[in-house]
Amino acid sequence: MKNTPIIVVLVLMLVLIGMLFYRLHSLEKQLHHKQYKTEHEHHEHDDDDVGDNHEHEYPLGEKMSKFFYFKNKLGSAIKHENQELSLFYLEEIEEIAEEIIEDDVYHEGVHISVLMLDKLMPAIENMEQELEKPESTKRVDAFENLVSSCNSCHKLSEHPFIQVEVPTEEIDGQDFDPIKE
Ligand code: HEC
Repeated sequence: MKNTPIIVVLVLMLVLIGMLFYRLHSLEKQLHHKQYKTEHEHHEHDDDDVGDNHEHEYPLGEKMSKFFYFKNKLGSAIKHENQELSLFYLEEIEEIAEEIIEDDVYHEGVHISVLMLDKLMPAIENMEQELEKPESTKRVDAFENLVSSCNSCHKLSEHPFIQVEVPTEEIDGQDFDPIKE
Protein backbone atom coordinates (compact mmCIF):
# COMPACT_ATOMS: atom_id res chain seq x y z
CA MET A 1 0.00 0.00 0.00
CA LYS A 2 1.19 3.42 -0.93
CA ASN A 3 -0.55 5.22 1.93
CA THR A 4 0.79 3.08 4.76
CA PRO A 5 3.37 5.59 6.06
CA ILE A 6 0.76 8.35 6.15
CA ILE A 7 -1.70 6.14 8.06
CA VAL A 8 0.99 5.19 10.55
CA VAL A 9 1.86 8.84 11.09
CA LEU A 10 -1.84 9.71 11.52
CA VAL A 11 -2.36 6.94 14.05
CA LEU A 12 0.74 8.02 15.97
CA MET A 13 -0.50 11.60 16.00
CA LEU A 14 -3.88 10.50 17.34
CA VAL A 15 -2.22 8.52 20.10
CA LEU A 16 -0.02 11.50 20.97
CA ILE A 17 -3.02 13.85 21.08
CA GLY A 18 -4.83 11.36 23.29
CA MET A 19 -1.88 11.24 25.67
CA LEU A 20 -1.66 15.02 25.79
CA PHE A 21 -5.33 15.30 26.66
CA TYR A 22 -4.93 12.73 29.39
CA ARG A 23 -1.94 14.58 30.87
CA LEU A 24 -3.84 17.86 30.72
CA HIS A 25 -6.75 16.29 32.52
CA SER A 26 -4.60 14.93 35.34
CA LEU A 27 -2.79 18.27 35.70
CA GLU A 28 -6.16 19.96 35.99
CA LYS A 29 -7.16 17.53 38.67
CA GLN A 30 -3.95 18.16 40.63
CA LEU A 31 -4.52 21.88 40.39
CA HIS A 32 -8.05 21.59 41.74
CA HIS A 33 -6.80 19.45 44.56
CA LYS A 34 -4.10 22.00 45.46
CA GLN A 35 -6.60 24.85 45.33
CA TYR A 36 -8.95 22.98 47.61
CA LYS A 37 -6.14 22.23 50.04
CA THR A 38 -4.90 25.82 50.25
CA GLU A 39 -8.44 27.09 50.76
CA HIS A 40 -8.90 24.53 53.47
CA GLU A 41 -5.62 25.44 55.19
CA HIS A 42 -6.46 29.14 55.05
CA HIS A 43 -9.74 28.35 56.64
CA GLU A 44 -8.05 26.54 59.50
CA HIS A 45 -5.57 29.36 60.00
CA ASP A 46 -8.40 31.87 60.20
CA ASP A 47 -9.79 29.87 63.06
CA ASP A 48 -7.99 30.40 66.36
CA ASP A 49 -9.24 27.21 67.89
CA VAL A 50 -7.39 24.28 66.30
CA GLY A 51 -9.70 21.72 64.78
CA ASP A 52 -12.73 23.64 65.96
CA ASN A 53 -14.90 22.69 63.01
CA HIS A 54 -14.03 19.11 63.33
CA GLU A 55 -14.85 18.86 67.01
CA HIS A 56 -18.37 20.20 66.75
CA GLU A 57 -19.22 17.39 64.40
CA TYR A 58 -17.34 14.68 66.24
CA PRO A 59 -19.50 12.56 68.55
CA LEU A 60 -16.93 12.30 71.36
CA GLY A 61 -19.56 12.40 74.10
CA GLU A 62 -21.43 9.51 72.46
CA LYS A 63 -18.27 7.42 72.29
CA MET A 64 -17.61 8.23 75.96
CA SER A 65 -21.06 6.97 76.97
CA LYS A 66 -20.24 3.74 75.16
CA PHE A 67 -16.96 3.56 77.09
CA PHE A 68 -18.91 4.04 80.29
CA TYR A 69 -21.42 1.33 79.43
CA PHE A 70 -18.80 -1.24 78.43
CA LYS A 71 -16.56 -0.31 81.39
CA ASN A 72 -19.43 -1.24 83.74
CA LYS A 73 -20.12 -4.50 81.95
CA LEU A 74 -16.42 -5.34 81.91
CA GLY A 75 -16.35 -4.74 85.67
CA SER A 76 -19.18 -7.24 86.20
CA ALA A 77 -17.64 -9.82 83.85
CA ILE A 78 -14.36 -9.61 85.79
CA LYS A 79 -16.13 -9.88 89.13
CA HIS A 80 -17.82 -13.06 87.86
CA GLU A 81 -14.45 -14.36 86.64
CA ASN A 82 -15.88 -14.70 83.17
CA GLN A 83 -12.80 -14.55 80.97
CA GLU A 84 -14.58 -14.89 77.64
CA LEU A 85 -17.09 -12.15 78.39
CA SER A 86 -14.38 -9.89 79.85
CA LEU A 87 -12.35 -10.18 76.65
CA PHE A 88 -15.47 -9.42 74.63
CA TYR A 89 -16.11 -6.13 76.48
CA LEU A 90 -12.47 -5.17 76.50
CA GLU A 91 -12.45 -5.53 72.72
CA GLU A 92 -15.47 -3.24 72.45
CA ILE A 93 -13.57 -0.63 74.45
CA GLU A 94 -10.46 -1.14 72.32
CA GLU A 95 -12.41 -0.68 69.08
CA ILE A 96 -13.83 2.64 70.24
CA ALA A 97 -10.37 3.80 71.39
CA GLU A 98 -8.90 2.86 68.00
CA GLU A 99 -11.64 4.74 66.17
CA ILE A 100 -10.90 7.87 68.19
CA ILE A 101 -7.16 7.48 67.50
CA GLU A 102 -7.71 7.07 63.76
CA ASP A 103 -10.11 10.00 63.57
CA ASP A 104 -7.44 12.43 64.86
CA VAL A 105 -9.74 14.22 67.28
CA TYR A 106 -9.21 17.59 68.95
CA HIS A 107 -11.54 18.68 71.70
CA GLU A 108 -11.39 22.24 73.02
CA GLY A 109 -7.82 22.49 71.75
CA VAL A 110 -6.72 19.21 73.36
CA HIS A 111 -5.41 16.49 71.07
CA ILE A 112 -7.63 13.66 72.29
CA SER A 113 -6.30 11.02 69.88
CA VAL A 114 -2.74 11.37 71.18
CA LEU A 115 -3.89 11.14 74.81
CA MET A 116 -5.96 8.10 73.91
CA LEU A 117 -2.88 6.42 72.50
CA ASP A 118 -0.66 7.41 75.44
CA LYS A 119 -3.04 6.91 78.35
CA LEU A 120 -5.73 4.40 77.52
CA MET A 121 -4.10 2.01 75.04
CA PRO A 122 -1.35 0.79 77.42
CA ALA A 123 -3.97 0.08 80.10
CA ILE A 124 -6.11 -1.82 77.56
CA GLU A 125 -3.12 -3.86 76.39
CA ASN A 126 -2.08 -4.66 79.95
CA MET A 127 -5.62 -5.81 80.77
CA GLU A 128 -5.67 -7.94 77.61
CA GLN A 129 -2.49 -9.70 78.72
CA GLU A 130 -3.90 -10.42 82.16
CA LEU A 131 -7.08 -11.83 80.64
CA GLU A 132 -5.18 -14.05 78.25
CA LYS A 133 -3.04 -15.57 81.01
CA PRO A 134 -4.88 -18.66 82.23
CA GLU A 135 -4.51 -18.07 85.99
CA SER A 136 -3.92 -14.35 86.46
CA THR A 137 -4.52 -12.87 89.90
CA LYS A 138 -4.03 -9.36 88.56
CA ARG A 139 -7.23 -8.92 86.58
CA VAL A 140 -8.95 -6.76 89.16
CA ASP A 141 -5.83 -4.59 89.45
CA ALA A 142 -5.61 -4.27 85.68
CA PHE A 143 -9.25 -3.19 85.58
CA GLU A 144 -8.72 -0.57 88.31
CA ASN A 145 -5.74 0.68 86.35
CA LEU A 146 -7.88 0.96 83.22
CA VAL A 147 -10.53 2.97 85.05
CA SER A 148 -7.91 5.32 86.48
CA SER A 149 -6.52 5.86 82.96
CA CYS A 150 -9.97 7.07 81.92
CA ASN A 151 -9.80 9.64 84.71
CA SER A 152 -6.20 10.64 83.94
CA CYS A 153 -7.33 11.69 80.52
CA HIS A 154 -10.35 13.52 81.91
CA LYS A 155 -7.92 15.54 84.02
CA LEU A 156 -5.55 16.16 81.10
CA SER A 157 -8.38 17.16 78.79
CA GLU A 158 -9.85 19.65 81.23
CA HIS A 159 -12.76 17.49 82.36
CA PRO A 160 -11.46 16.51 85.85
CA PHE A 161 -15.04 16.61 87.15
CA ILE A 162 -15.84 13.45 85.14
CA GLN A 163 -14.75 10.79 87.62
CA VAL A 164 -15.61 7.28 86.55
CA GLU A 165 -15.37 4.39 89.01
CA VAL A 166 -15.16 0.64 89.25
CA PRO A 167 -18.87 -0.29 89.30
CA THR A 168 -20.32 -1.41 92.62
CA GLU A 169 -23.66 -2.51 91.23
CA GLU A 170 -24.57 -4.69 88.32
CA ILE A 171 -26.62 -3.85 85.25
CA ASP A 172 -29.88 -5.77 85.49
CA GLY A 173 -30.92 -8.15 82.72
CA GLN A 174 -27.71 -10.06 82.03
CA ASP A 175 -26.12 -13.13 83.51
CA PHE A 176 -22.40 -12.39 83.87
CA ASP A 177 -21.45 -15.92 84.95
CA PRO A 178 -19.42 -18.12 82.62
CA ILE A 179 -21.47 -20.71 80.71
CA LYS A 180 -21.77 -23.91 82.68
CA GLU A 181 -20.09 -26.82 80.92
C1 HEC B 1 -8.12 10.62 75.61
C2 HEC B 1 -8.90 11.21 76.67
C3 HEC B 1 -10.01 10.44 77.29
C4 HEC B 1 -9.99 9.14 77.67
C5 HEC B 1 -8.86 8.12 77.60
C6 HEC B 1 -11.30 8.87 78.23
N1 HEC B 1 -12.07 9.99 78.17
FE1 HEC B 1 -13.98 10.14 78.78
N2 HEC B 1 -14.05 12.05 78.16
C7 HEC B 1 -13.01 12.74 77.58
C8 HEC B 1 -13.48 14.07 77.21
C9 HEC B 1 -12.64 15.14 76.54
C10 HEC B 1 -14.82 14.15 77.61
C11 HEC B 1 -15.77 15.33 77.42
C12 HEC B 1 -16.55 15.09 76.15
C13 HEC B 1 -17.58 16.17 75.87
O1 HEC B 1 -17.34 17.33 76.20
O2 HEC B 1 -18.61 15.81 75.29
C14 HEC B 1 -15.15 12.87 78.21
C15 HEC B 1 -16.38 12.56 78.72
C16 HEC B 1 -16.70 11.38 79.34
C17 HEC B 1 -17.96 11.10 79.98
C18 HEC B 1 -19.13 12.06 80.08
C19 HEC B 1 -20.13 11.74 79.00
C20 HEC B 1 -21.26 10.90 79.54
O3 HEC B 1 -21.80 10.13 78.75
O4 HEC B 1 -21.61 11.04 80.73
C21 HEC B 1 -17.90 9.83 80.47
C22 HEC B 1 -18.96 9.06 81.25
C23 HEC B 1 -16.59 9.31 80.13
N3 HEC B 1 -15.88 10.28 79.46
C24 HEC B 1 -16.17 8.03 80.40
C25 HEC B 1 -14.93 7.52 80.07
C26 HEC B 1 -14.49 6.17 80.34
C27 HEC B 1 -15.31 5.10 81.04
C28 HEC B 1 -13.22 6.07 79.86
C29 HEC B 1 -12.29 4.89 79.92
C30 HEC B 1 -12.71 3.63 79.40
C31 HEC B 1 -12.88 7.37 79.29
N4 HEC B 1 -13.93 8.21 79.42
C32 HEC B 1 -11.67 7.65 78.71
C33 HEC B 1 -11.74 12.28 77.37
C34 HEC B 1 -11.32 10.99 77.61
